[in-house]
Amino acid sequence: MGKKKVILDCDPGIDDAFAILLAAQHLDVLGVTTIGGNSPLENVTRNALKVLEVAGVADDVGVYPGHSCPMVAPLVTAPSVHGADGLGGACVPPPTHVAQDKHGVDFIVDTVMGTDDVTLIATGPLTNIAAAINREPRIVDRVREICIMGGSVTLGNWTPVAEFNIYVDPEAAARVFRSGAHIKMCGLNLTRQCGFTPETVARFRSIGTQAADFAARITDFGVASSVSRHQPPRAYMHDACAVAWEIDQTLIAAAPMHIDVELSGTYTRGMTVCDYRHLCGTQPVVDIERTAQMGPQGEAPNAEAALDLDYGRFLDLVCTTLANYQ
Ligand code: BDR
Ligand code: CA
Repeated sequence: MGKKKVILDCDPGIDDAFAILLAAQHLDVLGVTTIGGNSPLENVTRNALKVLEVAGVADDVGVYPGHSCPMVAPLVTAPSVHGADGLGGACVPPPTHVAQDKHGVDFIVDTVMGTDDVTLIATGPLTNIAAAINREPRIVDRVREICIMGGSVTLGNWTPVAEFNIYVDPEAAARVFRSGAHIKMCGLNLTRQCGFTPETVARFRSIGTQAADFAARITDFGVASSVSRHQPPRAYMHDACAVAWEIDQTLIAAAPMHIDVELSGTYTRGMTVCDYRHLCGTQPVVDIERTAQMGPQGEAPNAEAALDLDYGRFLDLVCTTLANYQ
């Protein structure tokens, strides 16, 4: 069987960089589209080019800049997590490759309409994906699935209930979740099972490839910048989990549920509202709700939500991948 065909829509971003490194080796990456998110569009586009050069595939995989800001709200960035440049000042030389002239949304629409079985993996705000669906609604039935790092079945990170990617552009996220496409949501409840520590950095350093050294440097920054948020400090590799799910679906256990996005709550804008009442008592993540009462019948599931990560095998996949690069 050939590699799965994907478009990676991202905002690198330390964990997006891991997503690119995994995807470039294990999936057939038709193109990388970028979206303003962790850092402004110019930075994340430059970072995508840099990471593809680290992977040695920048001649083969084009980078297509997409939207610089969300559909409605002003852009929120995350320099406290990813550094001012979006890659923790990873000290890699500027890329020698340049981005493509074609807009990211045009690339998504044209590629999906012209190629069967494309999977969209989104690891940033969902603005480009929503814009592509608005531009050409038929892509919803053309794509194999849309795998999203975003949202959460449980707690948020940017607010008590909202995860960063959804918080930045909730209108876009709502458009995607309501589109009718097959959605896989790799939310914070899953990605919080994937925290890289100083020990992980040491393991990367022992690999000895240029890619592993790059991975060690950006993870170092991620761990250091997490000190005020997590004890012991650790860098969550949210976006890498979404790509790993597409590489090997046995790494993640998931369950179907109906998921929608809160657009107007005073305290809850950007929350992914996940209806898992039908799972109460059957899954570890919802075990505390063992005695929950079902109310009126909920809506039919529109998504699969990731629940449990096999972290040991995930980390082995990352390390093997880094070892196989230069
Ligand atoms: C998500 O937000 C970004 O900061 C990360 O790159 C990831 O996509 C996690 O909430
Ligand atoms: Ca991201």
